[in-house]
Amino acid sequence: MEVSDGLVLFNHPRDYSFQSPPYDEVTSAVDVSVLFSLPRMTGEGDRLRWWGHIYFLEVRHTMNTNILDMETLALDEEERALVIIDQTKLPNRAEYLHLKTQGEIWTAIRELQVRGAPAIGDAAAIGIYLAALEIDTDDYNEFAKRFHEAAGYLNSSRPTAVNLSWALNRMEAVVKNAEGKSIPEIRTLLRDEALRIKQEDIDICKKIGEHALTLVKPGDGLLTHCNAGQLATAKYGTATAVMYLGHEKGYNFKIYADETRPLLQGARLTAYELSAAGMDVTLICDNMAATVMKNGWINAVFVGCDRVAANGDVANKIGTSGVAILAKHYGIPFYVCAPSSTIDLATPTGRDIQIEQRPPEEVTDMWYKERMAPEGINVYNPAFDVTDHELITAIITEVGVIRDLTEFSQKV
Ligand code: MRU
Repeated sequence: MEVSDGLVLFNHPRDYSFQSPPYDEVTSAVDVSVLFSLPRMTGEGDRLRWWGHIYFLEVRHTMNTNILDMETLALDEEERALVIIDQTKLPNRAEYLHLKTQGEIWTAIRELQVRGAPAIGDAAAIGIYLAALEIDTDDYNEFAKRFHEAAGYLNSSRPTAVNLSWALNRMEAVVKNAEGKSIPEIRTLLRDEALRIKQEDIDICKKIGEHALTLVKPGDGLLTHCNAGQLATAKYGTATAVMYLGHEKGYNFKIYADETRPLLQGARLTAYELSAAGMDVTLICDNMAATVMKNGWINAVFVGCDRVAANGDVANKIGTSGVAILAKHYGIPFYVCAPSSTIDLATPTGRDIQIEQRPPEEVTDMWYKERMAPEGINVYNPAFDVTDHELITAIITEVGVIRDLTEFSQKV
């Protein structure tokens, strides 16, 4: 890698790294891979001025790069920033945001710039570590109090995915167990824990994929809903891990991605990342799932989840429950991929899961050139629904495949 005057040349996309130094990057699709990087750009003005020259290269990059070569999120220690791919800009632009303040991180989670249950947990863990760097006191009690307040703030960004509070609780446990240590020592422990949470996410997704691979065969048609992919985790995804691992083995799956109204995570993210990885993926509107099932094109459904209740009921992206009902009707196995960080035994049933309600504009205005619903129309916009455990063929965790979900809490 060569660096001169803010221009960075890479020989291969794998040279890309968020770590020292941090980059906003744009690269060409061709494998010669000239990659322009603008270290420490601060303003949108800078970005536009530079990107004006090379915009076409960036678009081609996002359409051709193997997603497994990119990181969904990372800690930039030097810059004291959480670096994320801005998922609201995909698939057309691969932009990286360097989030430094708690407000920026809260907003990025709330606005789905970083999203998907495991990725939210990873982002919150790195985010709260950055908060710890800003707490300027040598007094343990004062540090612990302010750390707790910061955790509460990040935890308020989204309510349904339990991974958010799970990751923040893990980080708080580090502080609780470190009484007597110096604040610099505690900060080091927090950094290690945040990076451990991210690494565990990668390892767990891979194990979920390995278990899921035992449930399918080469050439199968697989349907997925929303994005429980690499972009929703640190790597592999949960529901998509079987697809990435199968692809490596030449399984030639035929994948169907629901577009996933209203925020189109299936169209913008799943279709993007799986096709960028070279898979055979077909995008369908949500209301076409019954047709592809009836046509006999689907052998199994794999979805992710945001919270699994103690009775095995599962909250996931709105529309998941309908897909499960269809799968049952057509006799197609319906698998939920759930890292143990998503299982919440403190929540008895799906009815007890708080479902996030989101702004009406997501249904009436977003993604359209013009508003496409009458002014003032009532809108109901729950971000998630609950799939009853009776509809689920099996829940796949990193430990194995749990088939009969009666007495689920006894089995995890
Ligand atoms: O609102 P989102 O995009 O964060 O919803 C994401 C989902 O529903 C995913 O399926 C779930 O978080 C699992 S991600 C591995």
